[in-house]
Amino acid sequence: MRDLEIAKQIIQNNWRDGFTIPTSKLYPFQWMWDSGFVALGTSTYDINMSLREIENMFSGQWENGMLPHILFHSEKEKTYFPNYDFWNSNINEGAPNFPKSSGITQPAVFGFILNDILKNHWENEDVKAFVKKIFPKLVKYHRFLYKYRDPNQEGLFFIFHPWESGRDNSPLWDDAMDKIKIHPGSIPNYQRRDTSIADADERPTKEQYDRYVYLLELGKKYKYDGKQIAEESPFLIQDNMMNAILIKSNNSLIEMADDLKLDSNEVKEWQQLSMSNYDRKFWNEDLETYVGFDLRYNKQLLHREIGGLIPLFADIPDQAKAEKMNNYLQNLSDRGYYLCPSFDVDSPKFDSKRYWRGPIWPQMNWMVHKGLRQYGFNDTADKVKSDLNELIHKLGFFEYFEAQKQVVDNLHRGYGGDNFSWTASSYIHLNTAE
Ligand code: GLC
Repeated sequence: MRDLEIAKQIIQNNWRDGFTIPTSKLYPFQWMWDSGFVALGTSTYDINMSLREIENMFSGQWENGMLPHILFHSEKEKTYFPNYDFWNSNINEGAPNFPKSSGITQPAVFGFILNDILKNHWENEDVKAFVKKIFPKLVKYHRFLYKYRDPNQEGLFFIFHPWESGRDNSPLWDDAMDKIKIHPGSIPNYQRRDTSIADADERPTKEQYDRYVYLLELGKKYKYDGKQIAEESPFLIQDNMMNAILIKSNNSLIEMADDLKLDSNEVKEWQQLSMSNYDRKFWNEDLETYVGFDLRYNKQLLHREIGGLIPLFADIPDQAKAEKMNNYLQNLSDRGYYLCPSFDVDSPKFDSKRYWRGPIWPQMNWMVHKGLRQYGFNDTADKVKSDLNELIHKLGFFEYFEAQKQVVDNLHRGYGGDNFSWTASSYIHLNTAE
C-alpha cells in the first residue's frame, strides 16, 4: 500500500463514528488539537467526516467558552488516567454533563483549521453554513482565553498546566515544575496507565507525573476557571507557541468574517492588543528565537525549542527575525538532524527519545512548513516536509520520531504510539493540499 492509502486507513480505523481517537490504547478519547489536525486531513477527501469531527469537539464546549483538551465520549473506557472521574469537571457548573471532559484546554487551532476548510470548499454551501454556525462558538472560545487567562490584560494568555501547551514534558517547564514540592498527602493516590502501554523510557517520569496531578488538583479546587488559579498556581506561563496559534486563529476569524459578512470587531481588538505585546514579551535576541514567559517568576524561559518557530506560521516576526529562525533550521539540517527537533539539540536537557524533549512531531512540522512558505523560505519548507515524509516512510506512522540521522539509520520504528491519527492527517494534508 502507498503511504497515502495507509494514512487514510489509519484514520478510518481510529474513527469512532463522529470523532477520531489519536491512537488506540494509549489515547482512547477525543483530544482537542489532535482533533483539529485530523479534521484538516480528512477535509481533503471526506468533508462530512471532517465537519462531524469539529462538531463533536464543540459539543464539549463549556458555558464559559472553554474547549476542553479531552472529551471522554465513552464513560466505560477505563484504560486512561486521568479519566473523567478524576478530573471531576462538573464541579464547574458550566461543564456539560455529556460528553464528560477534562478541565484544561489545548492550543487554539480551530480558527485556522476552519479557515483552511472554508477556503478549499468555497463552492460548498453546507460548509459555509457550518462555518457560520461554529463561528460564534469559536469567538466564545477565544473570549474565554482573554477573559479568564489574561489577568494583566496584555492580550497574552497563561496556562496553568503543561498539558495545556500540548508539549507535555518539554524541558521548558522543568524549572517551574521542579519548584513544586510534593509531600505525602499533598496529592491523592493515583495509578498511571500510560507506562503499561508505552515504553517507560519514552514517557514522562514519575516525579513529573506527580506534579501534573498537583496542578490538576489546583485547577479542580478553583473549579477550573477561578481567578484564584492565577493567584495561587506555581505554574503560570504565557506560552509563546499557544499565543502565536491564537493570533493565527484570530487572523483566520477576521478573514472568515470578511468572507462571510460576519462581525469580527471584538476579535480585531483582541488581536491588536496581542500583537502589540507579543514581540516585546517573547522575542529573545541572544537566542534568536521566541521564548515563553513565566508570569509567576517574571522572567523569560531561556530555551530554544520547537514552539519558538511557530510565530512564523502566524506571520509575527519581521523578515530579519524570520531569517535568523530559518538559518537556525538550515544549520541543524546541515549538522545531520532531521527537521524539526522539538528541543535544542545542544542543550544538556535534549533527550532524543523522550517525548517533547527532543523528538520530531508531525503536526509541528506541518505548522513550521506553512510558516516557512509564507516567508518565502522554500528550500527549508521543502526540507521540513520531505524529512517528515522520509521518517514516516522508513519508520511508520508513529506519534513522534528520532531526529538524529545516524540513529535513524539503525531504527525500524518511530516512538510512542503507532498508527497515530495526526501523523496520518498531517501527512495527508502536506502531500495533497498544497
Ligand atoms: C500527548 C501530547 C499532546 C497530545 C496528546 C494526544 O499528551 O503531548 O500534545 O494532544 O498526547 O495525542
